Amino acid sequence: MDSATNTTLSLSLCLHCFFFFFLLASATKPDSSSEGVGYGYSIASVRTDVSSPTSLSAILELIKPSSVYGPDIPLLSLTASFKSGDWFRVRITDATKQRWEIPKQVIHRRSSSPHRSLSVQNLSSHHNQHRSQPQISLIHPNSDLIFTLHNTTPFGFTIARKSSSDIIFDTSPNPENSSTFLVFKDQYLQLSSSLPKNGASLYGLGEHTKSSFKIQPNQILTLWNADTASSNLDQNLYGSHPFYMDVRSPSADGRVKAGTTHGVLLLNSNGMDVIYDGDRITYKVIGGILDLYFFAGPTPELVMEQYTKLIGRPVPMPYWSFGFHQCRYGYKNVGELEYVVANYAKAGIPLEVMWTDIDYMDGFKDFTLDPINFPLDKMSKFVDALHQNGQRYVLILDPGISTNKTYETFIRGLRDDIYIKRSGVNYLGEVWPGQAYFPDFLNPLSQAFWGGEIKLFHDLLPFDGLWIDMSELSNFITSPPIPFSNLDSPPYKINNTGVRRPINNKTIPATCLHYGNITEYDAHNFYGLMESKATRKALIDVIGRRPFILSRSTFVSSGKYTAHWTGDIASTWNDLAYSIPSILNFGIFGIPMVGADICGFGGNTTEELCRRWIQLGAFYPFARDHSSLDTTHQELYIWPSVAASARKVLGLRYRLLPYFYTLMYEAHVSGVPIVRPLFFSFPEDVATYKINYQFLLGKGVMVSPVVTQGATTIEAYFPAGSWFNLFNVSNSLVTSETGQNVTLDAPPDLINVHVREGNILAMQGEANTTSAARNTPFELLVVISSSGNSSGQVYLDDGESLEMGGGNGDWTLVRFNGALSNNNSVFVASEVANGKYARGQGWIINKVTFLGISSGSSLNGRSWKNRDLSILKGTNTQKATVKRQFDSSNQFIIIE
Ligand code: NOJ
Repeated sequence: MDSATNTTLSLSLCLHCFFFFFLLASATKPDSSSEGVGYGYSIASVRTDVSSPTSLSAILELIKPSSVYGPDIPLLSLTASFKSGDWFRVRITDATKQRWEIPKQVIHRRSSSPHRSLSVQNLSSHHNQHRSQPQISLIHPNSDLIFTLHNTTPFGFTIARKSSSDIIFDTSPNPENSSTFLVFKDQYLQLSSSLPKNGASLYGLGEHTKSSFKIQPNQILTLWNADTASSNLDQNLYGSHPFYMDVRSPSADGRVKAGTTHGVLLLNSNGMDVIYDGDRITYKVIGGILDLYFFAGPTPELVMEQYTKLIGRPVPMPYWSFGFHQCRYGYKNVGELEYVVANYAKAGIPLEVMWTDIDYMDGFKDFTLDPINFPLDKMSKFVDALHQNGQRYVLILDPGISTNKTYETFIRGLRDDIYIKRSGVNYLGEVWPGQAYFPDFLNPLSQAFWGGEIKLFHDLLPFDGLWIDMSELSNFITSPPIPFSNLDSPPYKINNTGVRRPINNKTIPATCLHYGNITEYDAHNFYGLMESKATRKALIDVIGRRPFILSRSTFVSSGKYTAHWTGDIASTWNDLAYSIPSILNFGIFGIPMVGADICGFGGNTTEELCRRWIQLGAFYPFARDHSSLDTTHQELYIWPSVAASARKVLGLRYRLLPYFYTLMYEAHVSGVPIVRPLFFSFPEDVATYKINYQFLLGKGVMVSPVVTQGATTIEAYFPAGSWFNLFNVSNSLVTSETGQNVTLDAPPDLINVHVREGNILAMQGEANTTSAARNTPFELLVVISSSGNSSGQVYLDDGESLEMGGGNGDWTLVRFNGALSNNNSVFVASEVANGKYARGQGWIINKVTFLGISSGSSLNGRSWKNRDLSILKGTNTQKATVKRQFDSSNQFIIIE
């Protein structure tokens, strides 16, 4: 090691002498536990790179073998590196052999600082130089994180914060806990970190349906994509996201501030169990490598910013997709579709998109139409009428391609040889159309095949978006394992579907082979991601505009391509409530366009449940009513009370469309979700960490739904501040001094939606379609804050260009600022960014409503008496109305 490196290391040692002494002490403690004694790895050598003092490489050697779950890998390589100040990566793999790692063509990620592959020989020459050091730390000038490698037996590493010394990830040997922190075998990787008991609140690690948003102790969270009903609590579902966010409570000594947040991703596609027991998190993974990314935060928003910078930002969704969607499995024919659309219109309930499930297909074959019930001529007329009316049409596709010998899609797939193989032949599974082959979306030819089929079908029937289902991969049969195959039957059985079912259960076998000799064992969890990617490319090629794709199966980075819904929930009060943690989790997974089947999917809904569900679902980012075959119909017009409520809540949703769309823009540019947990805006309020069934839309609109049968009041938590009921802004106010539970009226026909002081919302008028709503004038709701400025913004573009907020795009962002000035008058100002998008007819703000102003305040020098008033009310209407319009240079001007 040369002197430059020496300096860096000693510098970091003396900067962090607190850890130095602590770890020296623990290193000299005798091992007291049984199983943990001697097991694990020790550091054989460490190498730091002079050109990159923010990274190191180490060789780890096995201390003592164990035969459970197969032989240990004797030599491991560990690399640790900063990528700027935002995240830190620790990668542990076999030192001598290449192992499975998710390729860049599957998830394109910004790479960490380059590390050189160092051979064992190379490292041994440095062997003695670091061996005697008790620890080595890495720091980065722009990061609050410190990585420390502890030369203990067994070795460990910690990641801590410089600012508070809080240890966020701690794999150092713990004398009080005997389990080893690192096990590395071919098909079994185990890694644990201690966590502060009661000090860490964890969120994420899905996909599961959970009753609690915050991960509860003693949970096994299994990640293995499976087609199983999401009404099954705590079981692995359709997607895998090995990412969690950790929000810290304040420490007793005051060093750790409440709400300090970091994120942790284990970038690994193999099946795994993640076990959280309150003061420890343990990963048990059946393949790949340990590739950990730590995102420094320190706020929840910044964690999302950093995480989505690595995996890809959420893709923009078209404006129309924020309208209301109607679907059902079991629509019988075109006539029934027309009937549903007509009834929505008759009931005056907004309907933007009509969907068809597999019913439209001929024998459940993709890219075909049932010639009797959904014939082409009638379907074309139907889709045409929707389009005439400003409405849209979305249809479902499944990956299973029927092997019917006369089916042209199947024949083209055979010709291109794009199906997944097992033992050298196409693997034969079974799904809706009967026997089926599955396109291998890892194969570039498959992507071309899929794109070609989508184009052919779109030429026949101009659908607007695609719904891709069943790509977990779902299979109605479980093929027998290949005898003695450790892929079909790995030694460690993950807790698949909650009862440790074989990993091949009702999916294609792990011994199937994808393009590039990639086994299904490794690729299983990202099949859905690859299908989403291929579908997005296909739709862009075909429609040339921003696509809308909804996928059930997802993986890390799926948000770059698709929206998601939470799958087959039941029509129960529990599933209504649990949809909230599910939706919040997908925001954290970087897939902000998410919803649950409104009124429930499986089983019969009831009038009351459906009414409460549309009240909640109107505020899901993706709002679709969908139900299963043979259940009672649940279109919103069926029950008068549901219809009446739907008109009100969807009315507010449509007025808030510019806000939803602006939140989509914020998600796209910074990763922050559309629907957010309360702690995103109030991280310092620890009471928000355990809120399960309330959420924020953006930073300042809070939704507090009824989630129990028969309730007419709810207990809702209000973080500090003044909150105004959005359904009745002028006279319904909750003021919460320091954060408190409040009992609210929850009348049968309404949901509680409040906007907090400090926010400015740009809203438009109600309409039955989003395009009609976009033609109404704007209204600005300025909620003056008692303590400072109010702010808000609105993003404007044509709603369907591929880019959103891109460098040269035609878009305009208007930022609003409002304040109460010293002389007790209020003002609102706007500032335009980019400003390239202007509509011919202009968008007018014809109403500004100020809230939260005490009497005696004045607007533009004119005073009024009412408290919390809308300026359009009473005698002040004329005087205080402020009319603004985009002028030719896209600035707002006052045209009073
Ligand atoms: C399973 C999906 O989750 C569900 O939404 C759909 O209705 C059925 N497949 C039939 O396509």
